Amino acid sequence: MYLCAMTFVEKRHPDLSGKKAVHIVTFGCQMNVFDSRRMLQILSHLDYAETENPENADMILINTCTVRDKPEKKVLSALGRFRPLKEWKDDLILGVCGCVAKQKGVELLKKTPYLDFVLSPDNIPKLAEVVEKVSCGERLALTDFQPADDYEFVDVEPEVENVSAFYTIMKGCDKVCSFCIVPHVRGREISKPSAMIIRELKVLCSRGVKEVTLLGQNVNSYGRDIPGEMDFAELLERLNDIEGLKRLRFVTSHPVDASDRMLSCFGRLGKLCEYLHLPVQSGSDRILEKMRRGYTRDYYKSLIDCVRTHCPGIALSTDIIVGFPGETAADFVETLRLIEEAGFDQIFSFKYSPRPHTAALKYPDDVLPIEKQRRLNAVQELSDSITSKKMASYKGKTLEVLCEGLSRIAFSSEMKAQYTGRTRTNVVVNFFDDYNSVDEGGLAVVRIDESYQHSLLGIRIVR
Ligand code: 5AD
Ligand code: SF4
Repeated sequence: MYLCAMTFVEKRHPDLSGKKAVHIVTFGCQMNVFDSRRMLQILSHLDYAETENPENADMILINTCTVRDKPEKKVLSALGRFRPLKEWKDDLILGVCGCVAKQKGVELLKKTPYLDFVLSPDNIPKLAEVVEKVSCGERLALTDFQPADDYEFVDVEPEVENVSAFYTIMKGCDKVCSFCIVPHVRGREISKPSAMIIRELKVLCSRGVKEVTLLGQNVNSYGRDIPGEMDFAELLERLNDIEGLKRLRFVTSHPVDASDRMLSCFGRLGKLCEYLHLPVQSGSDRILEKMRRGYTRDYYKSLIDCVRTHCPGIALSTDIIVGFPGETAADFVETLRLIEEAGFDQIFSFKYSPRPHTAALKYPDDVLPIEKQRRLNAVQELSDSITSKKMASYKGKTLEVLCEGLSRIAFSSEMKAQYTGRTRTNVVVNFFDDYNSVDEGGLAVVRIDESYQHSLLGIRIVR
């Protein structure tokens, strides 16, 4: 999925005095959000703190995404935007990280004379070294994959800033979806040993994290690359026992690897939230085959029936690509039909864009841009109408909300504070209660009075 659905409660460093400032622009998925945090952690040991204002920065990092060509174009425009700053401030360090760094590497450095370094995700542990070299006037590109043994997993940092944390349990992807550049830029699957995951998550939870989202390109094939390692379902079962942890989530998973044991975890494990993102991509068997997804629409539907049997109230989200090469009007109708039948709570939809190093490049990109846009609009309209109905169905219900703090509108007319948080089904809820009565990271029981397209509004009813 294009992982923009989940929460990440970010706090800025309160005081930059005496420190150098780094401004990080993050594009793409939650893996990138997590990688930006890792880079910030490394830089904090070099006495950097984060700034929201690029004009104050001593270093600017652009953490990039290459999954479609639109995010890739954004990188070039961001570079152009920062160019005057670089010209104005001689010692400003400018770096490109993430998947475009991996894909373009030294070529990007050659093309952009004002760029200081290019660093692929696998090389993030070398960031401190890179900064030192750049400070001595070098320009460099580090883009090699690191072998499994050398793959450095992030250490747990002492101070935890958020009640919700992202945590990578595996990297890379061994699938061969014909449209997708991810295996090329993120490499083969490498799982983090379960003993390390359990140990680090216990530390995070002992320091105040209440909600953990496990990250990986394909989390449900977890463990296959390590002989004797537990599988993803067992990992979830073990993590469910961690003291202090209130909520567990994961993204993203592949239908082919969605085992019955994994699906049964919903409804069976108290901490696993009722939210599953299961990308389907298309509702047409013909297109699914050309996409090399390895399942049919009926198989996909059997998975969602299965998970709803285990957990009737589960919220489901998915990814859809419209305008894949050869997608006819009839294929597209199949996709719309599937969306209606499945009743997804949320859909992330994309126009197909041809990517280098992918098998689908051999097919002509034959759906006209105007038709791709029309199909995208149709998916989004259908999705919006399903979402509105789902959101309206929350009205009058009493839900558990994990509080993330005060919302932007801090006071209501009755001088009550407005807080914000999420339901277990990952819906944003703003709710009223007395000022200073709800702790960040606390669970509140909220009665929902109003529903909107992207959020709910209610009042806390139990203390
Ligand atoms: N064109 C359009 N969408 C794509 N995705 C991946 N590759 C492409 C592409 N070439 C979408 C898929 C995937 C999500 C992360 O991005 O829907 O699940
Ligand atoms: Fe890309 Fe397919 Fe792997 Fe997802 S499963 S990252 S779409 S190759």
